[in-house]
Amino acid sequence: MSTDAIKVTGARENNLKNVSVQIPKRSLTVFTGVSGSGKSSLVFDTIAAEAQRQLNETFTAFVRNFLPDHGRPDMDAIEDISAAVVIDQKRLGGNPRSTVGTITDINPLLRLLFSRAGDPVGLPPSAFSFNDPQGMCPTCEGLGRVVELDLDVFVDRTKSLNQGALLHPDFSTDSWYWLSYVKSGFFDNDKPLADFTEQEWSLLLRGEMPQKLRLVWQGNTLNVKYEGLAAKFTRLYIKKEDMSERNRQVFQRFVCSAPCPDCAGTRLAPAARASRIAGHNIADLTSMEAERLGVVLAGLVIRSPDGHTPTG
Ligand SMILES: Nc1ncnc2c1ncn2[C@@H]1O[C@H](COP(=O)(O)OP(=O)(O)OP(=O)(O)O)[C@@H](O)[C@H]1O
Ligand SMILES: [Mg+2]
Repeated sequence: MSTDAIKVTGARENNLKNVSVQIPKRSLTVFTGVSGSGKSSLVFDTIAAEAQRQLNETFTAFVRNFLPDHGRPDMDAIEDISAAVVIDQKRLGGNPRSTVGTITDINPLLRLLFSRAGDPVGLPPSAFSFNDPQGMCPTCEGLGRVVELDLDVFVDRTKSLNQGALLHPDFSTDSWYWLSYVKSGFFDNDKPLADFTEQEWSLLLRGEMPQKLRLVWQGNTLNVKYEGLAAKFTRLYIKKEDMSERNRQVFQRFVCSAPCPDCAGTRLAPAARASRIAGHNIADLTSMEAERLGVVLAGLVIRSPDGHTPTG
């Protein structure tokens, strides 16, 4: 019997009326027809759904708990299908979470592969997804980049604090925030920031103080905790959920985006990054150019638990 075609017999999903077709492999086949004629019902709901179901059946009961189970499509038989990669009709672009892997169905397959064969074992497929709370890097929340204070824009190093070295409007001379630095006692307020020592920079950006500062501002006396510029900026602007449009525009001028220092841009939590197959973690594989990925995957020999090497 030839295996050069996918043979579908008696497909009855949705409006399909016992459709039997043979679809040649290794060539491009196009399904055309008026809207509602059943193209998606045949291609996605029957062929791709059955391919996915058969693939899912090869996993252990534990792993299958994490996979969707849509049941068997309504049809008599399907022969000679292999794993399907679905590229959906969804629009591309516009989402910072999209990659070639998320747009095609390759990522779910790689997650299954790692959940089954990754060393150390024991993670469910969702732990390999940067869009899942279990799998995402906690620092950048799975985006791979973090937003940071852009110090070169925030300060004018040629100026002292008294001359208005802090350029963000909320930190202007005589403002409440400005006062907390000038009255901290940490700095010579007439010294240009370019002449600050390492230690002074460190105090300005990340300094802490055990006791509270006593500040008089617009007739009121207030006790406040000293907070370094980096921490204050993060708390006031970066971690802030809603912001007025004006504040957002100001904010955009003072930040830059940098690769996440914890996941190095891979977007994944430590456990997912630690799991390896043939020396590669899942981020190595998803960042590979497709042809090289094919070579690496083809070179893997996966043994079933009873020790023999399945073919196919
Ligand atoms: N989940 C569903 N439940 C019930 N009926 C459905 C479902 N999906 C599709 N149908 C119906 O099945 C028929 C075929 O729909 P299908 O989406 O397969 O058509 P199509 O040829 O892909 O159309 P289009 O060109 O608009 O994508 C339509 O009458 C549709 O309303
Ligand atoms: Mg369709």
